[in-house]
Order: sequence, then structure tokens, then C-alpha cells
Amino acid sequence: MDIQGITLALFASFARKPPVYVDIFNRVSDIRSALLHAKQANKTVALVPTMGALHDGHRSLMQVARDSADVLVASVFVNPTQFNEADDFNNYPRDIEADRTILADSGCDMAFTPTVEEIYPEPDHTTYDFGELETRYEGAFRPGHFKGVAMVVRRLFNIIEPDFAFFGEKDFQQVMVIRQLVRQFKLPVEIVNVPTLRESDGLAMSSRNVRLSAAERNRANAIYKALQLARQLAPSESPEHIRSLAVELLEQNGLQPEYFDIAYPDTLRPIRDFNGAPHAVALVAARLGNVRLIDNLQLF
Ligand code: PAJ
Repeated sequence: MDIQGITLALFASFARKPPVYVDIFNRVSDIRSALLHAKQANKTVALVPTMGALHDGHRSLMQVARDSADVLVASVFVNPTQFNEADDFNNYPRDIEADRTILADSGCDMAFTPTVEEIYPEPDHTTYDFGELETRYEGAFRPGHFKGVAMVVRRLFNIIEPDFAFFGEKDFQQVMVIRQLVRQFKLPVEIVNVPTLRESDGLAMSSRNVRLSAAERNRANAIYKALQLARQLAPSESPEHIRSLAVELLEQNGLQPEYFDIAYPDTLRPIRDFNGAPHAVALVAARLGNVRLIDNLQLF
């Protein structure tokens, strides 16, 4: 190949794959000093907390966050305190190289990828009490889960001091717990919800989906079908009847539902009668093989 050919080939390879770049910080002190410069220049900061194994759902959070502030920070930290099963923590997918590309690609300015020691230099003995919000659904099936989420999110807020933080509605109860955390501890941050992003068959995107076998993946969209069935039938059918049809549909497709329920979106109290309910959300958790999936849908 002559020099012109090489130049053209090089140009073509850059044109195909633009170099992407994101500043990665592992240490609290380093990201804090980088952020200090931004804050002294009166720049606003948005934070997207994640546990990595990033997918388009995370990407949509970063897209919304990108437009809301001057500096976009994403954290990638598989938080041990929120896992109530050692197997789930150990099998949680980790792929920092792939994550790095997605972070840069999504316009993220800084990525915070701390070690457990950086996040928890000493045990956090704070009492986190979210009352009713943590006694049902995810709180009931994953004891201690929301205390672990609250612990890490509060720590991340203390380190990054974001003006805005973005959370997906895919984890509906989590967003509510975080809003309560912000109120209880008077944290100076605005929480923004982002709608759930789904695969073309309706399955909510999740880092855990990669652990489904091909056969399981084919059946996983029964979760969305059950939620849609609930949306079609509410409020003319009773919550109890809808619940039993949804559970049946899940079981017919080989899923083991942990819960399927219909609740008031603002309190997560179960709705037993649609009469007088202004809004309703259906919440579901089901196991498929050894993968646990959750989802929810606003019914009306
Ligand atoms: P993770 O499961 O990695 O999710 C990070 C954020 O992405 C959460 O706010 C979650 O709701 C959102 N998300 C996940 N799938 C989504 C989808 N399909 N559509 C839209 N948003 C989606 O949630 C956690 O991590 C952790 O509990 C964390 C908040 C980071 C604390 O450790």
C-alpha cells in the first residue's frame, strides 16, 4: 500500500471508530479535587449511579443527565451491602472495559469506579428507616437491600455532591426510597426519574438479562405480557382477579413469581379495590432459572 493508501486506510478506521475518552477515577480524593475545579467555576454536576454491566437503559439515564448539567459523572460500583445473597453478588456481571466505552460514548465526563475500601473505609452505623416503603415487595424479599442502597447512595452523594441525580423507574421502589432518603437527611440534590427502557419484545433492559439462557430469554417477556394484561383489565376487573391471572400467565411460561401486586404509586400500599384509587402501579418480581427479574408498569 502506498502512503496515500495508508493515509486513507487510517482515516477510514478513525471515521468508523471515533476515539472515545472518559476520565476514570478510583479514589475519592482524586475525583473530589477534579470536581472542585468544576464547582469553583460554578459548573453544575449530574450523577448517574450504576453497578456497571452497562446497557441501553443506563445509556438513556446518561443521555437525559447529559443535557441537565455541565459535568456528567457516572459511578460504577457493585455495592456489596445491598446484596442479600452471596451468589447474586458473586455472579453479578462485571465488564469494566465495555463499560468504559459506553461511558465515554454517552458523553460522560468523569467515571468513578471505586474499590469497596474507598466507599466503606469504616462501617456505616447510621440508622436507615424507610418505614412501610421498605417492608413490601423488594424490601420483603431482599431483607436489608434498601438499607444497603441508601448507604451507598448517601455516600456517593457526599463524595460527588451532585446538583442532580438520575434513577430509572425500572426500580420503582428504589426511586421512592431514595427520594425519602433525600428528604430525611435533607440532602441538597434533585432526584430525577427516567422511564424504563425495554427490549423490542417488552423485556425491561437489565444487567441480569445476560445471565438468561436462550430458552429463558424467549420466555422472559411473559413479565411484560403480565403487566400489559393488568393494564388492559384495570380498573374494570378487581385487583385480586388481575393478580391471579397475571401469576397464572407467569407460571405458564415457566417463571416463578415472588410477587405480583397492584399498589398506590405514592405509598406502595396494595390496592384491594380500585374504587377511589386515582392511580395504580403493578409491581412484579419473578425468577427464571437462577435469575431474578423485576419490573413494573403504571396501570392508570
Ligand atoms: P443498576 O442496576 O446498575 O442501575 C443503575 C440505574 O439504571 C438505576 O437507577 C436503574 O433503575 C437504572 N436502570 C436499570 N435498567 C434500566 C432500564 N431498563 N431503563 C431505565 N433505567 C434503568 O440500581 C442500581 O444499579 C443500584 O441499586 C444503585 C442505585 C447504583 C446503588 O448501588
